[in-house]
Amino acid sequence: MIKGENTVKLLVIGAGGREHAIAKKLVSGSHVEAVFCAPGNPGMTRDGIQVLPIKQDDHEALIEFAVKEGIDWTIVGPEIPLFNGIVDDFQTKGLKIFGPSKAGTQIEASKEFAKEVMVANQIPTADYKAFDNYEQAKAYVINGPIPIVIKADGLAAGKGVVVAETKDAALSALEDMMLDQKFGEQNTRVVIEEYLTGEEFSLMAFVKGEKVYPMVISQDHKRLLEGDKGPNTGGMGAYAPVPHLPEALVRESTDRILIPAAEGMVKNGTPFTGILYAGVIATDEGPKTIEFNARFGDPETQVLMNRLDSDLAQAITDILEDREPELVWKKDGVSLGVVVAAEGYPEAYNTHIPLALPDISDKTQLYFAGVTEDESELVSDGGRIYLVEASGETMEEAQALVYEALESVDTAGCVYRTDIGHKAL
Ligand code: AMP
Ligand code: GLY
Repeated sequence: MIKGENTVKLLVIGAGGREHAIAKKLVSGSHVEAVFCAPGNPGMTRDGIQVLPIKQDDHEALIEFAVKEGIDWTIVGPEIPLFNGIVDDFQTKGLKIFGPSKAGTQIEASKEFAKEVMVANQIPTADYKAFDNYEQAKAYVINGPIPIVIKADGLAAGKGVVVAETKDAALSALEDMMLDQKFGEQNTRVVIEEYLTGEEFSLMAFVKGEKVYPMVISQDHKRLLEGDKGPNTGGMGAYAPVPHLPEALVRESTDRILIPAAEGMVKNGTPFTGILYAGVIATDEGPKTIEFNARFGDPETQVLMNRLDSDLAQAITDILEDREPELVWKKDGVSLGVVVAAEGYPEAYNTHIPLALPDISDKTQLYFAGVTEDESELVSDGGRIYLVEASGETMEEAQALVYEALESVDTAGCVYRTDIGHKAL
């Protein structure tokens, strides 16, 4: 209960642009005394976030810090600590944390678990079949349609999905995953899924048990190159809202996907607290789910936090204490973000690239991800380095603001897509 005289201290776990955006929004809360981010990155300190040299997988050290510092609650950005049970570990020590239990994360960690939740709760999704046996999977592909989607059942850092346009591509994906164990010995089970056609969007909500509080929808750009070509990445840019997708579609997706998923998790005995993310394709037959994530999307969060006019810290406090949160989303304008990545990403790339950063204004901001400090200068330290976000009255204005900012600096050694937001024009 923060309203009133009290103030809170908050801890964000993670190190990337998504965590920067969450932490920055929390800092602006009217009753927030301090926001820590572990391990964070040195770019975050520009926005009043205090970074801590504690790794995200060191649950014990994080718990010790939360107790010592008197952290009111913690929020988790990335999936890995969630999959490793950080929420369960904090709760065992009586600490408040906003995120799903390890059991709840199965909705993201196992494609098959997610499919079972969808089927049991009549959530629209692509038809699928799961296989452990390579010969059976191969026979299914040989006799099935093209394109077809092959997904590694378990964790694959966003790289376990192959949209195969030819039988050869489908068969070689099966070989990689099942015979060559590309995603590990324990991870040779595949889900083979019907290919869906239509526009893709990300629908996220704050969830506590059966309560679902949706956000505005956004659109990620997962491919490396302009025109949605090249390999899949962790996301090269995003924008929100998605003006060409009708409000009725968003409502239908909330009603038919997010709400039954939250209710299904309660029925399953794995009630979900945290951010539930549905990847949705708007097909001719209505919205269909292609994946669930148990966390905020990256880079969607970097464009969504600015769309929220109300106090995020108060909203999460209210949700954790079973009160209705106030969530006021901007009605007008658009936020757009473009990721600057190291040349070579998502394959091998250089680090320690010197960064000439664009100036920011009241309409633009920088969210840092793969950066470190070298003699107090920020240099690159990862594949996706930073994101430039702008809010404009129109898509054209937001795009112009971001690209003018990027063109004003030397981005040698880095790459970015020049067409983020193109689908909305
Ligand atoms: P995922 O990791 O499940 O989000 O999949 C990565 C990307 O593959 C998605 O963003 C989609 O563009 C594409 N994809 C996944 N499943 C399907 C499907 N059933 N039909 C068409 N495209 C898909
Ligand atoms: N932007 C996709 C994800 O966060 O999974």
